[in-house]
Amino acid sequence: MSLKYFMIATLLASALAGQAQEAEPRLDIIPEPREVKHVGDSSFQLRPGTPVRVNDAALDFTASYLAGYTDRYLGIPLQAVPSPKKGKRKASAADEAGRPGIYLENLSNGGPEGGYLLRVSAEGGVRVSGNDAAGVFYGVQTLIQMLPTRAGVLPFLPEVEIEDSPRFGYRGMHLDVVRHFFPVEYIKRYIDFLAWHKLNYFHWHLTDDQAWRLELKSHPELTAQASTREGEIFGLYPGTYHPLPYGGFYTQDDVREVVRYAAERHITVIPEIDIPGHCMAVLSVHPEFSTTPDEPKKCAQTWGIFNKFNNVLAPKPEVFSFLRDVFAEVCDLFPGQYVHVGGDECAKRWWRDCPETQQFMKENGLKDEKALQSYFIHFVQGVVNEKGKTLIGWDEILEGGISEDCVVMNWRRPQQGAKAVRTGHRTIFTSSGWSYFNTKESRTAQLVAPRGPLSLKKVYSYPIVPDSLTVEQEKLVWGTQACLWTEYIPTTWKVEYFLFPRISALAENAWSVPERRSWENFSRKMSAQFDRYDLWGVRYSEAFFRTEDVERVR
Ligand code: ACM
Repeated sequence: MSLKYFMIATLLASALAGQAQEAEPRLDIIPEPREVKHVGDSSFQLRPGTPVRVNDAALDFTASYLAGYTDRYLGIPLQAVPSPKKGKRKASAADEAGRPGIYLENLSNGGPEGGYLLRVSAEGGVRVSGNDAAGVFYGVQTLIQMLPTRAGVLPFLPEVEIEDSPRFGYRGMHLDVVRHFFPVEYIKRYIDFLAWHKLNYFHWHLTDDQAWRLELKSHPELTAQASTREGEIFGLYPGTYHPLPYGGFYTQDDVREVVRYAAERHITVIPEIDIPGHCMAVLSVHPEFSTTPDEPKKCAQTWGIFNKFNNVLAPKPEVFSFLRDVFAEVCDLFPGQYVHVGGDECAKRWWRDCPETQQFMKENGLKDEKALQSYFIHFVQGVVNEKGKTLIGWDEILEGGISEDCVVMNWRRPQQGAKAVRTGHRTIFTSSGWSYFNTKESRTAQLVAPRGPLSLKKVYSYPIVPDSLTVEQEKLVWGTQACLWTEYIPTTWKVEYFLFPRISALAENAWSVPERRSWENFSRKMSAQFDRYDLWGVRYSEAFFRTEDVERVR
């Protein structure tokens, strides 16, 4: 199709849309790419049936993902052409009549992971060239953000060249499914939210005081007896109590389905089994694993660290054999490289007050309870390493000393993260002051949430890399993540209310280089992003509109 045709078509489309065509169309891509060049004044129009071709069978899913997106959200079914099994693949996306289409190619060129080049031209259509298959997927996400945010607006793509790759290798989002449970279909939807934001790790918090939510063949009693609690406090204050049984768990088939779904979207699932504290659910089934075996226990119905209730594993042979079974099975079930051991908020008073535990510490040369915590973490690390995998833990795992080949997840003050880096650990920064999304948006927010306010601007201003680090140390900053703890989030709509729009700020922090980040530009782009939220049917916080920082401009 000729350039002239497209220029006429573009002008026509502009007139139809009732807008003047800008010479340099403005893009609203979140996260901001490294480089955007306008390479022509014309544009390429997607149409029903526009072909999406690939150079690699590993991209077949991405091609149908794109076609599915345009069909579902814009009513424009593209034609994903499966990679031919034999014979030469077409090196362009033109259809049989020679009309340009979309071409996805995996260059496998050893370039920066997740990097891609996206080119749009009226003559050639769209070409997304990824350094790897993930890069192609991210290029497709960028392409999606160049599409209209409403069905019916003609999808003209401006002639641009976008060169992009992520700042950080780790871009994560967490979900606590223990305090409140979300069925597997919603977990997949949550993974969609991550994919739209070019995030690549899903941290799945599966066990805690209130429940054990992962089916294990080695210990079926855990889900049989500890995936349901008798009731829960409701709201921020004790006294409002729901007496109804509350529960749910994921079968191993559910897990495989989530892992598969995530992998298609280039997201790795990291399971968290929280030990040696936050174990009340385990102790409800196995009180003999605690320092107070004669006291009956049940799944917690309130939230917190539980200095008053014993939720801590004791160092006993049967406990270590339990931990070996559990972590070995988790390693086998989840194909990813990383397993999260928790390690946070272990109330050490239970160990201090227990003569048998003190005796164990003496016999094993452990000088204090921090050393005992470290003993537990080292034990689990041994199991995980034997399976060829890498351990991640909250920043408390530094206490009492830990070997370098595990990853520290910094949730407390950034200084703790800096300390982890200085002691040679790869570190993920998710400092609660900026990255715990289960906090109020503003002081006046009506919804129940424990802390805050955490404005969108504050999320966006998370420095991630502490100033105190040297250039060499900075290389150990693996990336960033945000967490969604669900004590006060019992419904999926509230999940979204707390997640959006913050996840968009997280994505730009995690992906975009500092030179390309700007609050002014980000808040301008949020106008289009809110339209995308509407298109996706997600709920987002209205408190955002009440902040002075951002005006929603249409
Ligand atoms: C945490 O918030 N206890 C990791």
